Amino acid sequence: MQVGDKGQDAGGGGGGGPRGAPLGRALVLDTAAGPPPGGAIVTAVTAPEPVSDSAVPVGIVVLVSGSGTNLQALIDAAADPSYGVRILAVGADRSGITGIHRAAATGIPTFVCRVQDYPDRDSWDAALAGLIGVHEPALVVSAGFMKLLGPKVLGAFTVLNTHPALLPAFPGAHAVRDALAYGAKVTGCTVHVVDAGVDTGPVIAQTAVEVRDDDTEESLHERIKAVERAMLVDVVGRAAREGITVTDRKATIP
Ligand code: GRF
Repeated sequence: MQVGDKGQDAGGGGGGGPRGAPLGRALVLDTAAGPPPGGAIVTAVTAPEPVSDSAVPVGIVVLVSGSGTNLQALIDAAADPSYGVRILAVGADRSGITGIHRAAATGIPTFVCRVQDYPDRDSWDAALAGLIGVHEPALVVSAGFMKLLGPKVLGAFTVLNTHPALLPAFPGAHAVRDALAYGAKVTGCTVHVVDAGVDTGPVIAQTAVEVRDDDTEESLHERIKAVERAMLVDVVGRAAREGITVTDRKATIP
C-alpha cells in the first residue's frame, strides 16, 4: 500500500525529476491527457532505449516507512550485478526505523523527510522531490512507504508501489485487516504504477494468497509479505532492465 497517514496523504513539491540521464534506461511518462474518471493519470509509459546488457545498472531510490523487509529483498537482489539495479538512496518519512538502518548498514545513502517538519503538505512534497532528485533515479520504488505521494514527486518520477492486497480490492492503509474483516478467502499483493489516487494506479503484477480460517492480521500479512518480496524484486528488476509500457490502464513489461 502506498498510503498516507494511514489513509494516504498528498503533497506537492518540486525540485526533483529524472533530472539528466538516468543511470540506465528511463521510464518515460506521458501524462498529457490528464486524469480519467478512474483516477489513473498515466496514459503512456515507454522505455525508449533498448536493453543494454546491464552494463550500467539502473538507479533507483526506495522509499520506506517501517521494517523494510521489501527493501532488504531489493538490497539483496541488487548485490548481483546481473540484476541490473543500483539502489542510489533510501528515503523515509520518519526517523529511527529499521528500513533506514538496513540501508545504512549496507552503505546506501539515506534521507528522512518528515511531514511535520514542513509548514504544509505541498512544502513536504517539494522537499521530498528535491531529496529524491539529488540522486537522479530512473525509478522510485515505494516499498511500504506510508504517505501519499504528491504532485511534485509524481510529476518528476516514475514511481512503483507494492500493496498487500489484490487491487482494486482493499486499497488503503489497512488492506490485510480489511480483507480479513470482509471474509475474503483469497487476497494477495499488487505492484502498480503510482498515480494521484489511493492505490489506483495501473497494475503491473499480482500474486494471490489464500486466507486461512485461523489467520490473524499478522499471520496473513507475513504470508503475503513472503510472496510480495519476491514479486517486487522480480518486477523492479524487469522494469529496470526492460522498461515499462503503460497504455491507459494496461501496464506491461515487454
Ligand atoms: C508491505 O506489506 C507493504 O505492501 C505495506 O507494508 C508492508 C511493508 O513491509 N505497505 P516491510 O516494511 O517491507 O517489511
